[in-house]
Amino acid sequence: MQRDDDKLRAYYADAPEGLSLDDLDLERVPRHVSIIMDGNGRWATARGLDRSMGHVAGVDALREAVTTSVRLGVDVLSVYAFSTENWRRPQHEVDLLMHLFATTLVKELPLFHQENVRLLFFGDLTALPEKTRVVFQQGLDETADHTGMVFALAVNYGSRAEIARAAREVAREVAAGELSWEDVDERAVSDRLYTAGLPDPDLLIRTSGELRLSNYLLWQLAYTEFYVTDALWPDFTKWDYLRALLAFQGRSRRFGGVVRS
Ligand code: FPP
Repeated sequence: MQRDDDKLRAYYADAPEGLSLDDLDLERVPRHVSIIMDGNGRWATARGLDRSMGHVAGVDALREAVTTSVRLGVDVLSVYAFSTENWRRPQHEVDLLMHLFATTLVKELPLFHQENVRLLFFGDLTALPEKTRVVFQQGLDETADHTGMVFALAVNYGSRAEIARAAREVAREVAAGELSWEDVDERAVSDRLYTAGLPDPDLLIRTSGELRLSNYLLWQLAYTEFYVTDALWPDFTKWDYLRALLAFQGRSRRFGGVVRS
């Protein structure tokens, strides 16, 4: 991934006490960062606001996370925006989220053009309201030729459903004689997930202190480093992002092997 180091230094110039971009090894920035954006409701409730206002504030934090990822030279940023379980929320909150997805995407298209960001979606989009689906398709079409960072939004996403869908596709291809059962290996499954062609996440960030995966990327997170922060999603800044990367670089990733000296 191409990175403009001057732009990055300017972006991180006003560092708070004890935190510095100089402590980050720019040669070891994770390729794929994934985020479970959690705590919007609590952020709003703590301010005496409707939960939905937390999602509105969450959009600003998401825009900052996209910009930060681009500045850092991350190849893929993926975020969990709406799970298959989130339909159980009050109807007005679901409606607001669907509206927010559509309006935000339209509003942010210039940013995606300017930063050469390619949009992707993980999840079953067929169940979304038509307006949201149309805007998502527009986002996909308009950014398809972009060669910079991939920004993937998981919407109506559930990992078990994703794996079942891949299994169904494998079964269909075997039944149709397009694939031999002996060729059904890890690669065959990976290639049929929403994340096909993308590297697995190196780092998963979850906000609001929860220690759960919530049916998110269960297959893809097999060797991913986890970073949990107490910050609620609307409060998550480029500084929290930097803290996460510094923690990531302090870990030793062994992928089941031994530490090499
Ligand atoms: C989790 O917080 C957040 C969500 C389910 C929605 C995430 C959506 C956004 C940040 C808006 C993003 C907009 C676009 C365009 C993708 P929660 O509601 O579960 O918070 P809680 O745990 O405090 O109740």
